[in-house]
Amino acid sequence: MKRIVLLLVASIVATNAQQPVSKEKALDLAGNVHVIFEHKCNECHGSQLKKPEGKFGYVLDLKRMADNEDYVIRGKPQKSELFRLVNEGEMPPDDHPKTPPLTGEEKDVVRRWIQAGAPHELPAVLPKRTFAVAAPAKAKSPKDIRVTLDVRDQPAAQLFADIAKEAKIEIAYTAPKNEPRLSITFKNGPLNEALDYLVLCGNLTLRWEGEKAIIAPAKP
Ligand code: HEC
Repeated sequence: MKRIVLLLVASIVATNAQQPVSKEKALDLAGNVHVIFEHKCNECHGSQLKKPEGKFGYVLDLKRMADNEDYVIRGKPQKSELFRLVNEGEMPPDDHPKTPPLTGEEKDVVRRWIQAGAPHELPAVLPKRTFAVAAPAKAKSPKDIRVTLDVRDQPAAQLFADIAKEAKIEIAYTAPKNEPRLSITFKNGPLNEALDYLVLCGNLTLRWEGEKAIIAPAKP
């Protein structure tokens, strides 16, 4: 009898390790992990490379990654080398300033993805995430802050709030009567150029007060 009870306990622990998630949540996690890996790993570990770093060249093939127990133990982020590498900031390597380490939130996405069993099916439309490369310590102007943006049809207020948070600058935004919806694809370029483009598209104006961007409707 005692043995049966023990077995039961063991199997409850085992099933708890992998938290079952809804289909929708699984798609969401896979999509977000895909976009993070695309921005922060793919240049060194993508299948487009003849000689990927560490002879590992399939970072966007989530199924192959999840099937490789050297990298991922489904349901067990703490035992997964992949999570250890990103969580401890070993990947991306810190000698590569172009690709910043994962943010706390991004690490958490990777953790929850593995916890959920590392699902690989992607949503029809990949989620949009805003990536900013923080200014180097001696940054003198917003030109020194580089951003990567991949956004489609997002309300201006939300987009500017995301950019301000990621790039750690202040943006004062006065919304016009009809809130513009903005789209931009911009890879690792100066923040001020991205903002110039966005205000042009949204029929807005931009002026800088030191590090603070002031965005307002254009006068008719
Ligand atoms: C600038 C290039 C670069 C970027 C960006 C980068 N890596 Fe790496 N990666 C390397 C190099 C170089 C190695 C091999 C040397 C080593 O193991 O330290 C490596 C090794 C690895 C390995 C071990 C391969 C093996 O089987 O030995 C894994 C897993 C890995 N990287 C995952 C990632 C992930 C996940 C990301 C994104 C979050 C990432 N890397 C981003 C350069 C990079």
